[in-house]
Amino acid sequence: MLDLDSTATSLSLLSLSFLISLLLLLYFASGSTNKSSNPCPQSYPLLGNLIAFLINRHRFHDWVTHLLSSSSSSIQVNGVLNLSHGVCTADPAVVDHLLRSNFSNYVKGSRFSSVLHQLLGHGIFNVDGDLWTAQRKIASHEFNTNSLKQFVSHTVQSHLSHRLIPLLSDSCEAEEIVDLQEVFRRFAFDNVCNVAFGVDPGWLDTNMKKTANNSVNASFVEAFDYAVELTSDRFMSPVHAMWKIKRFLNIGSERKFSEAIAVINDFALNIIKSKESEYHQIKDDKNKEHNQDLLSRFMFSTSSFGFHDQDERRKFLRDIVISFILAGKDSTSTALSWFFWLMAGHPRCERLIYGELAAAVVASPADSPTNFSYDELKKLNYLHASLSESLRLFPPVPINSRLALAEDILPDGTYVGKGWSADYSAYAMGRMEKLWGPDCKEFKPERWLNDDGVFQPSDQYRFPVFHCGPRMCLGKEMAYVQMKSIAAAVMYEFEIEAIDGGGDAKKMLHPPYTLSLLLKMKGGLPVRTKRRRPQPDNHP
Ligand code: HEM
Ligand SMILES: *[C@@H]1O[C@H](CO)[C@@H](O)[C@H](O)[C@H]1NC(C)=O
Ligand SMILES: *[C@@H]1O[C@H](CO)[C@@H](O)[C@H](O)[C@H]1NC(C)=O
Ligand SMILES: *[C@@H]1O[C@H](CO)[C@@H](O)[C@H](O)[C@H]1NC(C)=O
Ligand SMILES: *[C@@H]1O[C@H](CO)[C@@H](O)[C@H](O)[C@H]1NC(C)=O
Ligand SMILES: *[C@@H]1O[C@H](CO)[C@@H](O)[C@H](O)[C@H]1NC(C)=O
Ligand SMILES: *[C@@H]1O[C@H](CO)[C@@H](O)[C@H](O)[C@H]1NC(C)=O
Repeated sequence: MLDLDSTATSLSLLSLSFLISLLLLLYFASGSTNKSSNPCPQSYPLLGNLIAFLINRHRFHDWVTHLLSSSSSSIQVNGVLNLSHGVCTADPAVVDHLLRSNFSNYVKGSRFSSVLHQLLGHGIFNVDGDLWTAQRKIASHEFNTNSLKQFVSHTVQSHLSHRLIPLLSDSCEAEEIVDLQEVFRRFAFDNVCNVAFGVDPGWLDTNMKKTANNSVNASFVEAFDYAVELTSDRFMSPVHAMWKIKRFLNIGSERKFSEAIAVINDFALNIIKSKESEYHQIKDDKNKEHNQDLLSRFMFSTSSFGFHDQDERRKFLRDIVISFILAGKDSTSTALSWFFWLMAGHPRCERLIYGELAAAVVASPADSPTNFSYDELKKLNYLHASLSESLRLFPPVPINSRLALAEDILPDGTYVGKGWSADYSAYAMGRMEKLWGPDCKEFKPERWLNDDGVFQPSDQYRFPVFHCGPRMCLGKEMAYVQMKSIAAAVMYEFEIEAIDGGGDAKKMLHPPYTLSLLLKMKGGLPVRTKRRRPQPDNHP
């Protein structure tokens, strides 16, 4: 048996190993199978590709796309002084091999444990082996229950009706510019905290200038946001060990980080304690299982686990819940920002979606698009296709990484050594002519629809935006419910005008992304909103 425990904890979702290899990259070595097909600049030993990297830094993912699409196989990446190695692929057969058929050989690994351990502990996101299997089992059971789906959809509806739509109405009346990316970020955070913890931080208030209006929640929101930002900065730090020295001395940003972790832990512990007292009252009442957040559900489903003591049990619950909050925090908001940017640049698609929504309202006049039910959302094929098309071109996790435990040969013949990283670029895969045809760089929702206009899912290894295999994203369905609900409500009520004009064919050639863990929009998404129809006068 492999000792997976010792390789526990790393953050691959945030896909940093590859970014770091490249930040520190001194050169690309030859392609693995055919030298003459190797697209990587050779030039000066040790420095040649650092220069290429620096030149291409602002368009990093497009550069990776270029390298992968001009190579006949996966490419090999060598780090500083040839001390670290890795491969990167855009081939569905290789992705299938890494993430499913040879799953046990490709783990998250320990490379980032030191960076992430304080925030994530042994949470599902950050571990391999038995620690992961146990959490995955109970989490996927809970995520598939109807009662959780209803809970998610109810939370989304309520935040839409009482926060997001009123906020956009206010900014519309005041003719103000709002940053939609920030609005979605706050919405998603409130939402995932409700689902994970059963607590509503209220970060998205109708007034964007305020943060959460209760000081306990405000400090939790700030602490969490800060801890995640700093975690990325640690990875990006040019001198990688710098943060450890700072932490040792407890100075600067690292001091603030420790304080933030303390705030997060206190907040989580208080909630766990208060749920424990509730739990004793309701554990015999089966009906109470409905409408319950994940934390309460995990308390039920782990009640038979043999924890040594209460502290160990609380730590387990804290870690798994914090992992969910991290996973759901910025992913959907990133996806929605690109979607609205693309809509602003593709008025034809926007009109088709509006038509689909208007038809759904005519079909069942009692419902408003703010409160479409789960089943009604399912019928919105064109909207579903447009969101998928947007995810194809702008995957929130653009590149992801695994660690090889033993040497192996990939299906395309590429050699992978023990301890190498094995990465796949979802961004590049969405832009491969081989996979999507000659129009692969265009935004065309129709490619997802059959002749009857019904959505056709893609093979998961060709579209690994939510990862695939046994570790596939648990929140995929929740993410689609969030994205469709928000898109339906906002697009039915408002016309959205992007200040930069939106992502039309020309702007899509140079998409404004940041080089960070997630594919965030650089400078946010500033927009103006306009009502579709006059408001009924419902003031008292
Ligand atoms: C558009 C939105 C989303 C995208 C593109 C996305 C993508 C991903 C990806 C690529 C992974 C693989 C991470 C890795 O192992 O390296 C992942 C894992 C995960 N996602 Fe999502 N995600 C999204 C939304 C969500 C939401 C809303 C939740 C729920 C709160 C969620 C929960 C999770 C969890 C728990 C895992 C870890 C699964 C495991 O390791 O077994 N995700 N997601
Ligand atoms: C290597 O690539 C060249 C040009 O792309 C091609 O002509 C040649 O057949 C390839 N050789 C092998 C062994 O694949
Ligand atoms: C760097 O390492 C790779 C893989 O171990 C090896 O194939 C290559 O020859 C090395 N390059 C140099 C310049 O030592
Ligand atoms: C939608 O449903 C939520 C609760 O799920 C409710 O609070 C809200 O008022 C409803 N909104 C509309 C526009 O019907
Ligand atoms: C803030 O947090 C507390 C628990 O700490 C919770 O009871 C309350 O409802 C939260 N929400 C708001 C908007 O204050
Ligand atoms: C906080 O928010 C709630 C509703 O979100 C509101 O009723 C309350 O008046 C606010 N309190 C302060 C101090 O702003
Ligand atoms: C999986 O990886 C191992 C290395 O651990 C390798 O020996 C084996 O051939 C691979 N299995 C498959 C099915 O490719």
